[in-house]
Amino acid sequence: QNHLLGIEQLAPDEITTLLDLSDEYVALNRAAEKHGDALNGLTQINMFFENSTRTQASFELAGKRLGADVMNMAMQASSIKKGETLIDTAMTLNAMHPDLLVVRHPHSGAVDLLSQKVNCAVLNAGDGRHEHPTQALLDALTIRRTKGRLHRLNIAICGDIAHSRVARSNMLLLHKMENRIRLIGPPTLVPSAFAELGCEVYENMEEGLRDVDVVMMLRLQKERMDGGFIPSEREYYHLYGLDAEKLAHAKEDAIVMHPGPMNRGVEIDGSIADDINRSVIQDQVEMGVAVRMAAMDLLARNLRERRAAASDAA
Ligand code: CP
Repeated sequence: QNHLLGIEQLAPDEITTLLDLSDEYVALNRAAEKHGDALNGLTQINMFFENSTRTQASFELAGKRLGADVMNMAMQASSIKKGETLIDTAMTLNAMHPDLLVVRHPHSGAVDLLSQKVNCAVLNAGDGRHEHPTQALLDALTIRRTKGRLHRLNIAICGDIAHSRVARSNMLLLHKMENRIRLIGPPTLVPSAFAELGCEVYENMEEGLRDVDVVMMLRLQKERMDGGFIPSEREYYHLYGLDAEKLAHAKEDAIVMHPGPMNRGVEIDGSIADDINRSVIQDQVEMGVAVRMAAMDLLARNLRERRAAASDAA
């Protein structure tokens, strides 16, 4: 692959290769000396047009730990504010010869469009409600390391699925790896189109959670609700907030996941989020750095090969 734009473009063996390399980077990140050299001499630019804590910080750390020169563009202070378009901004940066562009944008498809205008590797750090591929990969790595496998698991994705790029990328990945996926939430937040992927849809949380191995919680993404129906947080917590009573319907060793940012007392009870026997939320954050190192390492190898082939041909 030249870019990492979505899970949709990845084959199961490519997902496995990426997770295997991520495992190696987990070990490196836990070592006293955390430095590799896979990105030595390369320049990574992070362009975040939407807020981020986990994704931006982990892409920055991942690049630095592998030796890249990393620049975080302050998009709020950029000439986008003076009316420059996304494409003109991207082409301006492209003229400075970056090697890796990490982009988060509020519009679905914007990162794909940008990738067609530049001659470096582009990584999608989340585009609208479309895809968030590195989140799905870090979730997959967390599941594989905790459960010992990434196939034939019963996995519940709960809450605001309609507005979630995390849910979409996870559904695509977990389906490709042959898991059974259940979607749980109010009908207004669970589009029926996802049933096409063979997902079972549940409106009732207790029924949907019965005997699952993995429970993935999602926050209400009000910023993408476009003035549509927004449920009251109190009522939502009562029906769909994960608490001990609802979690008791899942398997005894079921793990609880959340991509963050978390809204305690809305989609998840704080005591469940902090329960070290069930919650793997902090493991997800740790896996995020390793997965982003692996993704950039593999794209950089491909980029170097393409450049060497182009130079041989010249
Ligand atoms: N999970 C996730 O994308 O978090 P951030 O918005 O903090 O990057």
